[in-house]
Amino acid sequence: MSSRSEHSAVTVLGLGPMGRALAGAFVDCGLRTTVWNRTPGRDRELVERGATGAGSAEEAVAASGVTVVCLVNYDAVDGVLRREPVTGALKGRTVINLTADTPSRARDTAAWAAEHGVRYLDGAIMTPTTTIGTPAAVFIHSGPEDLYREHLPVLRALGGTHTHLGEEIGRAAAYDIALLDIFWTAMAGYVHALAVARAEGITARELAPFAKGIGDILPPIFEEAAEEADSGGYSGEGNPITSAVSSMAHIVRTSEEHGIDAGVMRAAEGLARRAVGRGHGADGFVRLAELLGRR
Ligand SMILES: NC(=O)c1ccc[n+]([C@@H]2O[C@H](COP(=O)([O-])OP(=O)(O)OC[C@H]3O[C@@H](n4cnc5c(N)ncnc54)[C@H](OP(=O)(O)O)[C@@H]3O)[C@@H](O)[C@H]2O)c1
Repeated sequence: MSSRSEHSAVTVLGLGPMGRALAGAFVDCGLRTTVWNRTPGRDRELVERGATGAGSAEEAVAASGVTVVCLVNYDAVDGVLRREPVTGALKGRTVINLTADTPSRARDTAAWAAEHGVRYLDGAIMTPTTTIGTPAAVFIHSGPEDLYREHLPVLRALGGTHTHLGEEIGRAAAYDIALLDIFWTAMAGYVHALAVARAEGITARELAPFAKGIGDILPPIFEEAAEEADSGGYSGEGNPITSAVSSMAHIVRTSEEHGIDAGVMRAAEGLARRAVGRGHGADGFVRLAELLGRR
């Protein structure tokens, strides 16, 4: 396969909302784009825009030197890739797996790929479908650096920023997990806050500007906390864990007075109380990361 065809043709497996966005960006960039999805019919709009709809996954992967996979999880990926004739058709070709799952699943898929002569990169998408093809998209990648560099021209068609995080194949998934940990715990806090606010007669709209204010104070806290977490400083000057415990207890009490489940906050409060119990009450909240990591 010449490097010219490597960079002008791409296959996308999976036409959920994200797979459709990825394939659409490739089409818009003029790449010869072949698409396939388990459930037929999801390629209609893409085909109207110039993509080729393949009749099978094998036909799809055979059409290009590089296949981008974007399915719901790695069980689905295994179901599509780890069977003949698809595995045989992938031999010598590149798979860029942008499906989200765990670091260990990424390592397992890479081992399978190596055994079957499939060139493999793993990655994750950190932004919603609406960002794909725009400067706002964020992609992270891991795996062999030379393979990443070889396919960067194709990846660039997706817009946004692409960051190669290292050769260790599980690294992109590990970043993804850590970042989604922040996202989902924040979202769990936000929906809980909406329920408590509503019980107190405050609408989501009324709360919104102040909720945004809370969001805005987090980035500088994250930067400062990163220094502390890596250096093991944990200064509680200005906001010790004892104060955090008190604040969290108010949230638990108010929620439960309204009959609202406070399980998420109780869990956080429990962690903070354990830190106090171990003599870390005067430390900063980031001390909890160190305690959580202790085996
Ligand atoms: N949507 C976003 O904003 C977003 C943002 C960042 C990352 N991601 C990640 O991108 C990936 C795809 O997400 P998505 O939004 O497109 O929707 P999704 O619901 O996570 O995935 C839908 C895709 O998975 C396929 N699929 C599910 N089970 C399958 C199976 N057993 N065998 C074969 N294919 C199967 C679906 O095919 P059928 O049509 O046949 O069901 C469809 O193509 C996920 O890993 C997600 O976490 C999404």
